[in-house]
Amino acid sequence: MTIYHEPVLLKESVDFLITDPKGTYVDATFGGGGHTREILSRLEPEGRVYAFDVDINSQRIAEDLSASDRRLLFFRSNFSSIGSLREKHEGESFNGFLFDLGVSSYQLDNEEGFSYRRDEKLDMRLDKRLKTSAHEVVNSYSQDDLADVFFRYGEEPRSRSLARAIVRARETREIETTVQLAEIVSRVLGGAVKPLSRIFQALRIEVNGEIEVLSKGLDSAVDTVTKGGRVAVISYHSLEDRVVKEKFRYEAASCVCPPEAIICTCGKKARVRILTRKPVSPGEDAVKSNRRARSAKLRVAEKIS
Ligand SMILES: C[S@@+](CC[C@H](N)C(=O)[O-])C[C@H]1O[C@@H](n2cnc3c(N)ncnc32)[C@H](O)[C@@H]1O
Repeated sequence: MTIYHEPVLLKESVDFLITDPKGTYVDATFGGGGHTREILSRLEPEGRVYAFDVDINSQRIAEDLSASDRRLLFFRSNFSSIGSLREKHEGESFNGFLFDLGVSSYQLDNEEGFSYRRDEKLDMRLDKRLKTSAHEVVNSYSQDDLADVFFRYGEEPRSRSLARAIVRARETREIETTVQLAEIVSRVLGGAVKPLSRIFQALRIEVNGEIEVLSKGLDSAVDTVTKGGRVAVISYHSLEDRVVKEKFRYEAASCVCPPEAIICTCGKKARVRILTRKPVSPGEDAVKSNRRARSAKLRVAEKIS
């Protein structure tokens, strides 16, 4: 049997997350439900898990699980909307939020257009209800906009040359498949795995608005989590990790006045305490048994006011 997704930093993240076994927790990225199952296994009958995912396959898995465990409630929604939980469940305390970012192994290995290793239609939408797929981005963005995507989200120094080559190629015929795109990338940047991965990742980030929704989701989590509760985030690449690190730093700062200010006039208060001065990474054994864990970083903050 193929495993839908092997959870990463499972014990480490859930150890940090649970502060009250009777509490309510939010798994913002249900995936195959590995983290949700672990959280449920540690909760008492009064505990709850509200889980989010945009993928229809996650919805199916969650529906099966919630049929046998009523403590789970699933929403097929983007985690950028977790702020609405407070209105929907007025009076409820939220004791922790977990974000395990990116894509599941199932999505990478089976869903359309995520990987340059299989010849498929360019798609990359985690949420098939979204209008813009990678096909639209590659075939309709201007040369400058394409270059910006590759530079910003793929940190690709030759983003302009690649964008030029794509625009030239699509003048002859549309770029329909992952392999067509990979051939152009390899021609311009060389056939190594790293640039290919970076460019495919950049497109995925653009298609799913990953950086914007992460920022919004984290803001809502910090706003909503109860005092003493935690927000735990597992990220898989430096762009995501930077957003998490900066957000937690800002929320942990008690003053954001310019360094030259003699007295504080900003009136800012620290809302969180950072529990992971350095991010937690998986051990050697975990990386050996699950290659996708190798870039994982866990950061956790605790709400203090
Ligand atoms: C790494 S997997 C999570 C795996 C999960 N922790 C497990 O143990 O099975 C990431 C999941 O987050 C989902 N996802 C990514 N961005 C999302 C977003 N903005 N809102 C909701 N779900 C999202 C993906 O569809 C994917 O299923």
